[in-house]
Amino acid sequence: MYFVANWKMYGNTADINKSKSVIKLANLKKYKVSKIIYCPPFTLLSTFCDKVKNSNIFIGAQNCHSISEYGAFTGSINAKLIKSTGAKYIILGHSENRKCGETDIIINRKIRSATKENLKVIFCIGEKLSEKRKKNTYNVLRKQLINGLKGIKKIENIIVAYEPVWSIGTGLVPKNSELIKNIGNIKKILYKFKKSKSIKILYGGSVNPKNVKELAKIKEINGFLVGGASLNPKKFIDIIKKSII
Ligand code: 13P
Repeated sequence: MYFVANWKMYGNTADINKSKSVIKLANLKKYKVSKIIYCPPFTLLSTFCDKVKNSNIFIGAQNCHSISEYGAFTGSINAKLIKSTGAKYIILGHSENRKCGETDIIINRKIRSATKENLKVIFCIGEKLSEKRKKNTYNVLRKQLINGLKGIKKIENIIVAYEPVWSIGTGLVPKNSELIKNIGNIKKILYKFKKSKSIKILYGGSVNPKNVKELAKIKEINGFLVGGASLNPKKFIDIIKKSII
């Protein structure tokens, strides 16, 4: 099981120290098989990497510039720079960035540059509420997957995170039957277009200690991408513990 903490635009050095209890948990035998990944803002990547050295926790970034070479791009961070901090993962295609104009083509370029640096990509896809209402979820997921992964060869470096946009930060979570159906479709699409049967699929959107037990019953889900609740180490630990019985 993967447990990915997406801190979004939150977090300072003091918050890194609060993750001590999570580091301790990650080193326990029972949790060693799971992958716990913190994705803090860029500003904390190096410090966080130092902090988790020799532990069972990994660090990831939340985005990168699409160009893989160094260059005159004021204010931007590319995959090479992220790699140099010690981070091993990166979240790409998050709906909060798609909302700001990130297209499938840009996301595809970012995935290419991140895989070139051997970063593992947590590739976010998901439908908006209006698309769900129009019963368009399948087509939206298919388009995002095909366009985002076009030409990507290192498919073993991709983890897909299914995050329905309407469930992010709203407290709303799809019914298990809906999740099983959508994740089943994602797997079929990945098999058809990428010949892959082994890509891990995470769920993200309002995951919390109260709803995680029910979500963890879905065997097709390989882990969770957690936003708000991951900032609170107690809640994050609770989520991990309740998912692994
Ligand atoms: P919340 O868990 O706060 O709903 O955020 C989900 C998310 O966007 C993770 O990437």
